[in-house]
Amino acid sequence: MVLTPGQRTLLGLLADGEFHSGAELGQALGVSRAAIWKALGKLEALELPLERTRPHGYRIAGGVDLHDAAAIRAALGDAARSLLRDINVFDVIDSTNEQAKRAADPLNGSGICYLAERQTGGRGRLGRRWVSPFARNLYLTVAWEFDGGIAVVEGLSLAVGVAARSALAAVGVTDIGLKWPNDLLRSGRKLGGILIEVIGDPQGLCRVITGIGINVAMPAAAAREIDQPWRDLSDCRISRDRLAAALLEQLLPLLHDFPERGFRAYRREWEAAHVHQGRPVRISTGSRVVDGIARGVNEQGALALECADGLRFISGGEVSLREGP
Ligand code: BTN
Repeated sequence: MVLTPGQRTLLGLLADGEFHSGAELGQALGVSRAAIWKALGKLEALELPLERTRPHGYRIAGGVDLHDAAAIRAALGDAARSLLRDINVFDVIDSTNEQAKRAADPLNGSGICYLAERQTGGRGRLGRRWVSPFARNLYLTVAWEFDGGIAVVEGLSLAVGVAARSALAAVGVTDIGLKWPNDLLRSGRKLGGILIEVIGDPQGLCRVITGIGINVAMPAAAAREIDQPWRDLSDCRISRDRLAAALLEQLLPLLHDFPERGFRAYRREWEAAHVHQGRPVRISTGSRVVDGIARGVNEQGALALECADGLRFISGGEVSLREGP
């Protein structure tokens, strides 16, 4: 579903959370009250808490925190701004990662950011769905080109976890842990995740699509669709634009410098933030299960697992980790 310019304007007017009369909205948009009524129906389909009351008019209780690409760009420091080629904000899209892949074009280069208010097909690791309600959480993807194939980006997803943790600290959220390979946890529950996809030549010029999802203010109805313990930042009152800017501030220099610095520059920080460091864990790879003690990660981002028969290194991919027996 795509919002028409009129519906977008209407949403912008209601974003303040105050009551607006049908006459006022009709006048602002230059349409009849009946047309406003119809457009409001569209907004309700976005599962926004729209109230219609006879004496007061209409409001979205609590308001809506909509993205503003110009505000995000303006919040960046010079270094990150110089690395940002473009920000594309979508009202509704299947997935910002999918969009980044569709838009891939050899002339399109690095530093293209995709943000969505809502994803209808948000994807997580291991083929899971990423619950992505309208204007409540953060769905951000950055496309970057690397020459030298996937070998150059080994460990990138873990480094992005370190960057996301630093971004959250920069906006005042300092209680974030990391879980191998790339979950962001808050009080032991999932706050966010990272999905990296690579397209192009795996040995040569490839485009790396880095998607980050962070639960900012998850509505109760959407939360019922999440199949794991989760957390959000609703107690922190952080605007999604501020968080998006903080992420880009960390992520763009990381992507730019990664061929030179690699994961080794982030490894110690990653291990210090790993919630399972030195603890028993169980790794599941499809039908296989391996138990051991998490002893850190190597320079490729593989988990060092101390098993009964010695040290094993487990690569990310189709693997999940949970606390061990
Ligand atoms: C995970 O922990 O399973 C990874 C979740 C990644 C979600 C983000 S939201 C932005 C981007 N678009 C998607 O469809 N997925 C990623």
